[in-house]
Amino acid sequence: MLLLAVAFIVAFVLLLYMVSPLISPKPLKLPGAHVVVTGGSSGIGKCIAIECYKQGAFITLIARDENKLLQTKKEIEKYCVNDKQVVLCISVDVSKDYEQVENVLKQAQEKLGPVDMLVNCAGTSVTGKFEDIEVNSFERLMAVNYLGSVYPSRAVIATMKERRMGRIVFVSSQAGQLGLFGYTAYSPTKFALRGLAEALQMEVKPYNVYVTVAYPPDTDTPGFAEESKTKPLETKLISETSSVCQAEQVARVIVKDAVQGNFNSSVGSDGYMLSILTSGMSPVTSITEGLQQVVCMGIFRIVGLFYLGSFDSIVRRCMMQREKSESADKTE
Ligand SMILES: NC(=O)c1ccc[n+]([C@@H]2O[C@H](COP(=O)([O-])OP(=O)(O)OC[C@H]3O[C@@H](n4cnc5c(N)ncnc54)[C@H](OP(=O)(O)O)[C@@H]3O)[C@@H](O)[C@H]2O)c1
Ligand SMILES: *[C@@H]1O[C@H](CO)[C@@H](O)[C@H](O)[C@H]1NC(C)=O
Repeated sequence: MLLLAVAFIVAFVLLLYMVSPLISPKPLKLPGAHVVVTGGSSGIGKCIAIECYKQGAFITLIARDENKLLQTKKEIEKYCVNDKQVVLCISVDVSKDYEQVENVLKQAQEKLGPVDMLVNCAGTSVTGKFEDIEVNSFERLMAVNYLGSVYPSRAVIATMKERRMGRIVFVSSQAGQLGLFGYTAYSPTKFALRGLAEALQMEVKPYNVYVTVAYPPDTDTPGFAEESKTKPLETKLISETSSVCQAEQVARVIVKDAVQGNFNSSVGSDGYMLSILTSGMSPVTSITEGLQQVVCMGIFRIVGLFYLGSFDSIVRRCMMQREKSESADKTE
């Protein structure tokens, strides 16, 4: 009986492996490809641009600050692998006006050819308690992090479908997989990217266009340093339960997953656990990936509950300490 069950499982897995080439995308060839990186002048975006440039791609960097763009262009050009390679800089706000974004992308495509890979990495963050965050910050974050990813993607998707090839990358965050203290303005913008990515992937998969959602952990970047200045104590203590990653490492993983056409891209053991736990109804790009999700989900939920418990106790401890010091102030 047991033998029969084992034989059945083995046969099933073999069958899955036989059909797996049907669902696995063909890798994108980076040499000579045109890669557009929004937010390419700093942090993770800059490292993604460098990583692609090192592999022979032509790069378009998009951000607002022209000086920062030019400085980054020089930095990237040091990694040149052939003398035809170009780094193009475009200064535009990706969140303001769709027509403008469409226009600059048209110009970039006239110079460097159709976009093979678009990396939506422009983003920003505000942390604080819900009631302390300015109402316009909620609007601004949604505009930059969400609409700022919709506009460039909307501008390149038709050509990608026509050419029957392409990659779109959305840089979400681990805060786009779970909501944490202090992230009431930021998390929803990153969750939104996941919904967009799932729906878009179903539309474009038959056209051989693949979508990747990256969920970076805390990463050492200028943006992260800026955010850390105003983080509530609770958010800091919760963040400290995992370590800070290097932008180069995060970028390498994102580029690798995008080239392979993987839907999910995560870094580290926390990232691995979160991507399994939140796989839900997201598309699967290999049988191994699907099997890992099926096998690990229950166990990881138990581990996750311990994390949640410890986060809750951090928040409660901070509240009690705050109230104690407030009442001490009053009696003085
Ligand atoms: N660092 C982390 O810990 C972390 C963790 C998870 C996810 N992420 C996400 O990863 C992405 C990059 O983060 P990072 O830390 O590398 O950021 P960063 O160092 O602050 O760089 C942000 C980049 O986006 C550009 N940008 C910002 N607003 C823009 C706009 N409205 N239009 C065009 N460009 C804009 C910035 O250039 P200008 O200011 O000149 O426009 C800059 O090039 C973000 O989406 C962030 O949410 C970061
Ligand atoms: C998500 O992507 C990472 C690599 O970026 C991989 O190691 C992991 O297995 C993936 N997780 C799931 C659930 O597919």
